[in-house]
Amino acid sequence: MTTNTEQPSAREHTLDRDCTTLSRHVLQQLQSFSSEARDLSAIVDRIALAAKLIYRRLSRAGLMAGTLGFTGEVNVQGESVKKMDVYANEVFISVFKQSGLVCRLASEEMEKPYYIPENCPLGRYTLLYDPIDGSSNVDINLNVGSIFSIRQQEGDDLDGEAKDLLQNGRQQIAAGYVLYGPSTMLVYSIGHGVHSFILDPSLGEFILSQENIKIPKHGPIYSTNEGNFWQWEESIRDYTRYVHRHEGYTARYSGALVGDIHRILMQGGVFLYPGTVKNPQGKLRLLYETAPLAFLLEQAGGRASTGTQNLLDVVPDKLHARTPLVIGSPENVTLVESFIQDRARRDVEDSVASPS
Ligand code: AHG
Ligand code: MN
Ligand code: MN
Repeated sequence: MTTNTEQPSAREHTLDRDCTTLSRHVLQQLQSFSSEARDLSAIVDRIALAAKLIYRRLSRAGLMAGTLGFTGEVNVQGESVKKMDVYANEVFISVFKQSGLVCRLASEEMEKPYYIPENCPLGRYTLLYDPIDGSSNVDINLNVGSIFSIRQQEGDDLDGEAKDLLQNGRQQIAAGYVLYGPSTMLVYSIGHGVHSFILDPSLGEFILSQENIKIPKHGPIYSTNEGNFWQWEESIRDYTRYVHRHEGYTARYSGALVGDIHRILMQGGVFLYPGTVKNPQGKLRLLYETAPLAFLLEQAGGRASTGTQNLLDVVPDKLHARTPLVIGSPENVTLVESFIQDRARRDVEDSVASPS
C-alpha cells in the first residue's frame, strides 16, 4: 500500500497555489513581517482592489450607461478624457482614502498630486499611476491596462509642489501593471524579480501564476506606431528599414502599452515610442508609464532606454515630463541604440566634412 506522507498530493499543490495571494507573496518576497513589509503588502493589496473594481466596470462597459466615450474634457496632458479614465482615477483615490497607507497619489489624469493628509503620519509613500492605459481601446472592447509605481515620500511637501518626486526611476520601491485582457493579470516587482498573478473571479483574488519571469534575450517582435514614420528621426527610420529587410521580425501594435509590453516580456522583442518632430520627447509619461515599466523590465532581465540614456537614470524636470521609450529584450534594445549612435556619428562626420 502506498501512502501520501512524503509527497504532497496534487490537490494540496492546487490548494497551496490558490492560497498564494498577492499580499502573501509580497510578504514572502520581503521575508519579513516588519511594519514596512506589512505596509507594502497592504498597498499592493489595495492596488489589487482598484484593479478588481476597474475590471468589474470594464467587463460590463457596453451594457452600462456612462461608461463608454469621452467626457468632453481635456486633461493636463492635452488629451481628451474618457469616462473610464475618470472612473479609474477615482477608484484609486477611493481605495487609498482612509487607508493610512499612502500620503499622496499622483496620476497622469491629475494636474497636481492628490493629498490624503490624514494618512501622512503613517503612510510615508506616494502612489503614481496611469489609471487606464490605452483608453482608446475601451470603446472597442480590446485590452487596456493600469500602471503603478510606489515611491517613498520625502519630506512634508508643505507647498504641495511634489519636488521630491522629481527623481530617477531607481528610487521606485515597486512597480507593475494590470492587464485587462481575456483574463485580468497583475504583474509586479518590488526589486526581487517579476511575478504575475491572475484574477480568479470565483475567489475574487489574484492568484500567483508565474514567478521570476525572465524576458528572452532577443525576440522577433517590434512594436511601434509606424504611422509616425515620417515624423521620426532618421535613425529610427534606419532601424525600421532594417527590420523590414531582415527575416525574423514581426510587427505587433495594439495601441495600449501594457498589452504590447506584456507580449514582449513573455515572447521577446522591442517596443518603441520615439520622439517625433512635433513631440521630441514622444508621448509617454516618465513617472506614470516609462519609469515603472523600465523598473519592471529591468527586473526581468530586459532593458529600457530613451535611445541615448538608460531610462532609469532620467530625472524628470516636471511631474508630467515625457520621455522617448525603447524597451524590451536586451539585444533588441541595444540594436536600436546602435542605429541611433551610428546616425549621430555620421551627422558629426558630415558636419566636420562640410561645416556650414
Ligand atoms: P493613455 O491611454 O494612458 O493615454 O496611453 C496611451 C499610450 C499607450 O498606451 C500607447 O502605446 C500609445 O499611447 C498609443 O499612442 P499612438 O496612438 O500615438 O500610437
Ligand atoms: Mn498610458
Ligand atoms: Mn491613461
